[in-house]
Amino acid sequence: MIELEAGKPGDIEHAASLLRAGRLVAIATETVYGLAADASNPAAIKKIFAAKQRPIGHPLIVHLSDPERIHQWVDRVPDLVWRLVEAYWPGPLTLLLPKKSGVSELITGGHPGVAIRMPAHSVALEIIRLLGGDIVAPSANPYGRISPTSASHVIREMAGRIDAVLDGGDCTVGIESTILDLTGDVPTIARPGQIGRSELELFLGMSFADHAPAGRAVPGNVKHHYQPVTPTIGVQSEHFSEVLPELTGNAGRTGVIWWRSPPPGSAIAESIRLGDNPDDYARMLYIAMHTMDQADLARIVIELPPKTEPWLAIHDRLGRACNVLDTVTRSDY
Ligand code: TXA
Ligand code: MG
Repeated sequence: MIELEAGKPGDIEHAASLLRAGRLVAIATETVYGLAADASNPAAIKKIFAAKQRPIGHPLIVHLSDPERIHQWVDRVPDLVWRLVEAYWPGPLTLLLPKKSGVSELITGGHPGVAIRMPAHSVALEIIRLLGGDIVAPSANPYGRISPTSASHVIREMAGRIDAVLDGGDCTVGIESTILDLTGDVPTIARPGQIGRSELELFLGMSFADHAPAGRAVPGNVKHHYQPVTPTIGVQSEHFSEVLPELTGNAGRTGVIWWRSPPPGSAIAESIRLGDNPDDYARMLYIAMHTMDQADLARIVIELPPKTEPWLAIHDRLGRACNVLDTVTRSDY
């Protein structure tokens, strides 16, 4: 795997030339690192599924560097879409729109919609411009594992499976984009992210549906996803201090990811504090999980943040990454 650096002269062009040749390059976006392929090259897109060991049928997000390129993917672009584009692009908002006929099933997985976003990262935008077309880019992790938010995460987990990584620094958002499904009569959030539901409802002046109609669930919404390899348990903040000594009493080293309740130093092998506001917390969450996963631990214990709306996207990711104490017994950890 070639390791390229966005700051080095010629390296972004090198990455673009690899994409042009049908190769896979991991690139930074503001959310997480994406595994990019030329969206017009079916052979290149197929390589994504092999590299991630992702089942065919899980659709991919198209990334643009120019909003006008929406017309390549969608027939009629309603006014509401342009309002969202103007306010939120480039940025961590993916729009799921009815696809034009002829859009590759490799990209949409046979779904009626196509997911599109314009990333807010100068390197990602530059590489798309240099390619002269659009890219598809899922998160650059093996299927089911935690998304990477730095080039070193990609190197550790994808070396030997992809052609190159273009280091564009650490991701500033840290969790995957919000997906707003606009394929039905009423919009719905298909994946929560930094841009929240109530903000979008307020902006558009309408209420969203709570769920997509049956049969249109997003495939990425499988229960266990974004998982560390180390057994990981989430504990509500109110019970954290009471439960932690019991867990650390079990055999093996314990790592703790906390935000409000500092763990007692003695019994803890590793501890990482995350921010006490959702944006700071999100930026560090996957870094903390990757670090813990490398630390040769018997278990990772996460102090769960409040269950209020601003924390929804984080709860969504934590709910997939860990077993929450309500549903498991302490002795299992
Ligand atoms: O922030 C992000 O969106 C990152 C960065 C790299 O841009 N990308 C990302 O891609 O998270 P991925 O493939 O890991 O997750 C995309 C999600 C999946 O859950 C997928 O099922 C859903 O978007 N999706 C993509 N296209 C879709 C479609 N046509 N219909 C329904 N769901 C779709
Ligand atoms: Mg992913």
